[in-house]
Amino acid sequence: MTGSPIAEHARLEALLRAVAAACAAGGAGDAQTACDRLGQGLEAHLDREESLYFPPISALRPDRRGALERLLEGHRELRGALARLQGRLAERDLADGERALAVLARQLADHEADEEAFLDALDADLRETAQGLTTP
Ligand SMILES: [Fe+2]
Ligand SMILES: [Fe+2]
Repeated sequence: MTGSPIAEHARLEALLRAVAAACAAGGAGDAQTACDRLGQGLEAHLDREESLYFPPISALRPDRRGALERLLEGHRELRGALARLQGRLAERDLADGERALAVLARQLADHEADEEAFLDALDADLRETAQGLTTP
């Protein structure tokens, strides 16, 4: 999974829907397979943000480090919610799995909304700065 963070968010939502569909269909093996794909996609996404995107933002915009720290806390919460989902599905408990999936889905949606608002605000700042550089 590669691309902009926002494009990756849409792909993660599709992976979540695949787990939900497998749980609803009652296939524990299919749910675990879909969850493995979700886990790999989510971990790759979080790792890319932490290794490629956040460090330069932190270096260039120290005024945004508090917001970045909150996003990193969100990553820790997402990893915890994913581990709980994996645990339920490993026990082939689809009812608890669906509940754990709902928690993960809500956390991911909230995190993505916060992150996209953060990136939009950074983008607006850059445009304002660029406009100031080009306006006599
Ligand atoms: Fe993200
Ligand atoms: Fe993130």
